[in-house]
Amino acid sequence: MTSRRLIRAVLVAGSIGLTAPGAIADEVNVESGRRFAEQNCARCHAIGPAGSSPLDPAPPFRTFAKKWPLESLEESLAEGIVTGHSDMPEFELSPRQIGDFIFYLETIQQK
Ligand code: HEC
Repeated sequence: MTSRRLIRAVLVAGSIGLTAPGAIADEVNVESGRRFAEQNCARCHAIGPAGSSPLDPAPPFRTFAKKWPLESLEESLAEGIVTGHSDMPEFELSPRQIGDFIFYLETIQQK
């Protein structure tokens, strides 16, 4: 997958100090958040900045911040997800993974 190569390039660039100063890549990892969404959520939800959800009633991730603060989703994830998921896989997420995922969500929210 080309995106994997891109990630590696970004990581290498980061580790030798080529990314923008103040980059938060050490703190949170947007790419791993995106990957989590892709692997666990994308078959039902639109997870990107555009497009509609594969499963009609599933709201696109980019609309979440309009409904509730993303921090409340963070809590739900920490406690184990959530309402309305009949067919939802169960997750065990580390705080780190949750942080990455929420951070990814922030990058795609509609303003
Ligand atoms: C099997 C399909 C499916 C998968 C996989 C799935 N969802 Fe959903 N999700 C839905 C559907 C359908 C709804 C809408 C439920 C409703 O409103 O009745 C929904 C709703 C939601 C909501 C809104 C809940 C609410 O109370 O309005 C959140 C948040 C959510 N999903 C997060 C996720 C996350 C995060 C993942 C991946 C970790 C995920 N979903 C994976 C089908 C899915």
